[in-house]
Amino acid sequence: MFKGEKHMEKTSRISGFYNLSPIERLRIVKEFAELTDEEVKLLQSTGALSLEQANRMIENVIGVMPIPLGIATNFLINNKDYLIPMAIEEPSVVAAASNAARIVRESGGFFTSSTGPLMIGQIQLINVSAPYSARLTVLSHKEEIIKKANEQDPVLIAHGGGTIDVQAKVIETSIGKMLITEIIVDCKDAMGANVVNTMSEAVAPLLEDLTGGRALLRIVSNLATKRLMRARAVISKDVLGGEEVVDGIIAAHEFAVSDPYRCATHNKGIMNGVTAVVLATGNDTRAVEAGAHAYAALNGKYKPLSCWEKDEKGNLIGSIELPVAVGLIGGATATHPIAKIARKILRVKTATELGEVIAAVGLAQNLAALRALATEGIQKGHMKLHARNIAVMAGATGELIDKIARRMVEEKKIRMDRAVELLKEYLKKKT
Ligand code: MEV
Repeated sequence: MFKGEKHMEKTSRISGFYNLSPIERLRIVKEFAELTDEEVKLLQSTGALSLEQANRMIENVIGVMPIPLGIATNFLINNKDYLIPMAIEEPSVVAAASNAARIVRESGGFFTSSTGPLMIGQIQLINVSAPYSARLTVLSHKEEIIKKANEQDPVLIAHGGGTIDVQAKVIETSIGKMLITEIIVDCKDAMGANVVNTMSEAVAPLLEDLTGGRALLRIVSNLATKRLMRARAVISKDVLGGEEVVDGIIAAHEFAVSDPYRCATHNKGIMNGVTAVVLATGNDTRAVEAGAHAYAALNGKYKPLSCWEKDEKGNLIGSIELPVAVGLIGGATATHPIAKIARKILRVKTATELGEVIAAVGLAQNLAALRALATEGIQKGHMKLHARNIAVMAGATGELIDKIARRMVEEKKIRMDRAVELLKEYLKKKT
């Protein structure tokens, strides 16, 4: 079934996936991820999340909001093939990711690394009379604080996780100095916000006793600098379309480095891929977005999350580093029926593996955008997709979708009335 390459029995390199029907695509994904008939049925149903399930997830439920789930193909990451489930409303994103992944795999694929699944919990202490001295008191009671925190979650401890360190800093604010204590928690396969918040609240009274201050906020930080995910790839200049394209991508990157207006859009393109996978797997998109943008601005200047340079042979080298706080257990990741299937399709064993895959998808998405922007622009590709959508809306099916879309693009008339006319014309020819 798979038009495979050499290294794996299962490959994500699937040519023509785009032209298949959703049912045909699903058949391929079923085989790749060994989905059950039940899971396939759920994917086919737009009502996979029942009202009852939705009502248990949030408050005041009145319905559900379906978003398309697409599969990006061709991803080779650390020599392993991945099909990437992406939940997103924007056209072109899934196609662009697949396209970039195809180019990257021809040069060996993506390689990833990470810091591991460590999250930071912050406890704000106010009204501390001698904050610098209190800071040292906190640090000297590190073991006691860790013990108190770890009493809160025996299950996480049994899995080798838990609070592993304590740090403290004095910050200057407009209303005076504050002592901020931070617990560092190894969250293993959980996103961790819940456990970190519980632990932060649990250690607060102890910190009040130690410092004489008052604990105010006790909450996880979404700037997850100890949960950084990294991906890199070397892309042959020939596969990319020549040295001019390489230079164009590097110039596009430098534009983002020097101009925050461009940089926001550059990073938005990265987040197109990142957020789509975060959402598909039932993770907290806002947490990851907040972390990514805060990380981009960490040194006081908003900068691109990715970097593009070239090697001595003129090949393009891309790299990305961003915090990705995602989990495989807890919350919607464990309860949302589609999120569970998305995880199965990804075949990831740990939350860290998921985070690294997400970083690779972000890099692929960025490559696709910069390559298009630095060459023909993105509208051409968009227009092709838009034309297909209009053709479908006009009632075209099968091969007529592409035929009508192509005609409308050639004529530069991508409109509903033209699609209807062309459909009539083609149907008349058939009969
Ligand atoms: C559109 O959703 C994303 C892009 O604007 C990203 C970019 O400009 O790099 C194409």
